[in-house]
Parts: sequence; structure tokens; C-alpha cells
Amino acid sequence: MSRFLVCAPDYFSIDYEINPWMRRKNEVHSDRARDQWEGLVRVLEQEAGAILERLDPVPGLPDLVFTANAGVVQGRRAVVSRFRHPERQREEIHFENWFRAQGYEVGLLEKGLFFEGAGDLLGFPDTWFGGYRQRSDIRAYPVLSEIFQREIIPVELVDSRFYHLDTCFCPLSGGELLYYPPAFDPYAQAAIAERVPAVRQVVVPESDALKFACNAVCVGKHVVLPTGCETTERLLHERGYLTHPTPLDEFLKSGGSAKCLTLALD
Ligand code: ARG
Repeated sequence: MSRFLVCAPDYFSIDYEINPWMRRKNEVHSDRARDQWEGLVRVLEQEAGAILERLDPVPGLPDLVFTANAGVVQGRRAVVSRFRHPERQREEIHFENWFRAQGYEVGLLEKGLFFEGAGDLLGFPDTWFGGYRQRSDIRAYPVLSEIFQREIIPVELVDSRFYHLDTCFCPLSGGELLYYPPAFDPYAQAAIAERVPAVRQVVVPESDALKFACNAVCVGKHVVLPTGCETTERLLHERGYLTHPTPLDEFLKSGGSAKCLTLALD
């Protein structure tokens, strides 16, 4: 069973600009955002068979909906994020409290060692990849590697539109990697290619990448992704996946989509 943490968009809005997608004047339509979020929840529960845990929304924390950034969970252990931007640092205590209330063994990184959770740390069962430069600090990865006893390959993100690893990189359940190579520097592209042979690479075209095709949630054979990414859907079908295009454009105004709105709990 796949479990995820989600947080309803009661207070979701664009109150500040910390990535190139966010424009304060590009106002969120709250009812649409609510409907889109409910749609995502419905697809995850009813189509993909996922179990969802809910974090209570908090007034004044518009980005708390992006639970992928809560931290990283492995078994009973959770490491809480240390956000780069002060606007999001206020979320840390709420995520920490939730992990503690659920009985996780909670790890905290030193202050100033930026790390934005499963938004930047993703991978396959044995090898993990850690995105850095835009948000997380490369220095967080040796520490996390020690805590989780996993090899973590740091990969540099060079395009500010793809500021978290999960905006351009999505490991699939069958071992394939859905990703957008130009978001990475040449060294990272080579490091990825060394770990993921060409036959397992599913390369997303730029037009779909800009619609956040890689910000997908994979549960077994099901892939939940934003609408409008037909080429990516076709590539996924060729690999035997079932796609669930879900309208989430209200969240793209904040630089997020399906994956950002969930945190994998196991
Ligand atoms: N507005 C949020 C931010 O810039 C969006 C976070 C999206 N989350 C993600 N895992 N990519 O931090």
C-alpha cells in the first residue's frame, strides 16, 4: 500500500515570489484550486489505490500544501526540511510536529544547512539523487546519506524554472526514469546516465516539461500527472503505465503540481 501526506489548499495563494513561476499578480482562484486538489485526492485514492494522510492547513502558510517539501521519510525515520527562503521556514515546525505526532524518529539538520525534503531527494530503492544549488545545499547530502544509509548522487539543477529535483526528475516503479535532461548540468546528466541505462530513460520534451510532466506521482502502474502532457502520456503508455491526467494549473502558478502536493510515506 502506498501512503502519502497531503494538505488541503485552504490558505493556498501567491503571497511572495520565490521561484520564476510565482507572480503575486497572478492570483489563485481558491474554488478552482480546491476543486483541482480534491480531484487529485480522488484520483490517488480511487484510481491509484493510495492511502492519504492529512496535515491541517495553517493560515499564513500558503505553500504548506506542497507536502513534498516537508522532509524525507524512510521507514520510521523522518528528516525535516530546512527551507532556504524565510517565507517557507515557518512551515518547518508544523511538519516536524506532524512527524512527531505520528511517532516518527525525527532527525533535524543543523540550521542553515538547506534541504527541501522529497522535493529534492528522490530515487530508486538503492540509489538516491539529490538536487542542489537552487534550493537544497549540496552539503546536506553526505549527512543524509549517513542518516539513511543510502548512496546519494548530488545532481546540480541549472534552470531556475526547474528549481526542485521533482520538477524535472521522476523515478518510476518499474525502474525507469521520467526526466528532462536540460535541467541538469552536464556532469549531473552524465552521472544520471551512468546509473540509469538509456533503455530505462524516458525523456520528456521541453513543452511537456514546462507543464510539469515530471512532477508526477507513480503508484505501481499508475502515473498521476498534470493535464496537457500528451507526449509524456504516450511515452508512459509504451512502457505499460496507466496515466491519469489531472488539472492542476492553479498550483502551477506557484511552481508546483501533482508530486509537490504529496509526500511519499513509504
Ligand atoms: N511555491 C513553492 C516554492 O517555491 C512550490 C513548491 C513546489 N514543491 C516541489 N516539491 N517542487 O517553494
